[in-house]
Amino acid sequence: MTADTGNRVVVTRRIPGSTIARLDAAFDLDVHDSEDPLEHQALLERVRGSAGVLTMVSDRVDGSFLDAGGDTLRVVSNYAVGFDNIDVPSATEHGVVVTNTPDVLSQATAEFTLGLLLSLVRRVAEGDRVLRRATPWKWSPTWMIGQGLFGGTLGIVGLGRIGREVARLAVAFGMDVIYANLSGEVRDVPYRSVTLDELLATADVVSLHCPLTDDTHHLIGAAELAAMKPGAVLVNTSRGAVVDEPALAHALRDRVIAGAALDVFEREPEVQPELLELENVVLTPHLGSGTDAIREAMGELCLGALSAVLVEGRCPANALNPEAMGRG
Ligand code: GLV
Ligand code: GLV
Repeated sequence: MTADTGNRVVVTRRIPGSTIARLDAAFDLDVHDSEDPLEHQALLERVRGSAGVLTMVSDRVDGSFLDAGGDTLRVVSNYAVGFDNIDVPSATEHGVVVTNTPDVLSQATAEFTLGLLLSLVRRVAEGDRVLRRATPWKWSPTWMIGQGLFGGTLGIVGLGRIGREVARLAVAFGMDVIYANLSGEVRDVPYRSVTLDELLATADVVSLHCPLTDDTHHLIGAAELAAMKPGAVLVNTSRGAVVDEPALAHALRDRVIAGAALDVFEREPEVQPELLELENVVLTPHLGSGTDAIREAMGELCLGALSAVLVEGRCPANALNPEAMGRG
């Protein structure tokens, strides 16, 4: 293995499916074959002299990463649709193309969102805990009453690809859909565009599907939670830091809102300890895109992006900064 072949590709974590074998056939492959992320310093050592890196959301691709990649690094392919872990402007300055995995995971993440929501409002996870604790129970008209979705209003924050899929499924459940899109009204959708304030005041379910940016960091804090209806619930399958987690824990404890369903957390893998104590919360460990078929499709997109830049010398369709192409 030499650093100047221009062909070394680093994969920062073990990934399922056929992607590794296919990458191995195309590149001088260096896989961190582990379930654990590389520490940042180890990551920097690893990317030194590489031409491409397949990164995870837990890898911080910042100035130090891009400097370590140096002149040889030409493409970073993020194994996720979200790319808040990557300093894209800095990558552009370094002439490094950045790609993500859009579209392929929208349905999977949307169906997971509905599953999480249902398990909250119909108390599926809580009921499971009741039985596992061997709590005595008998059916009665008052036993573990939940709330249905039919006839309720779903407020979607961020009507992108995933948000639109969630809307489509929610309509099938008989919900009215409204949305607040921070980057403006979305064309050609049959849903009503509202301000975030109106959405919070109106929705029975508030579901977050925006990317994490400076503008959406702690978008939902104490004031926004207080603006929700007392019977409303919050669902987050986007990024943990879109919600002020301690504020949410307080709001749930004090019944400012009725419940929350969370697949993502501010400081993953840590979960705010107060949340673990509450029954009106469903918690899952970042499972949104986790199906075999979707992981294969995500790998395929990453492989395609690495091959486009490193083998074919062209800009991949899923490049987030096409202007970086040829700048390195
Ligand atoms: C997962 O969180 C993703 O952004 O794909
Ligand atoms: C409840 O189990 C019912 O049959 O209504």
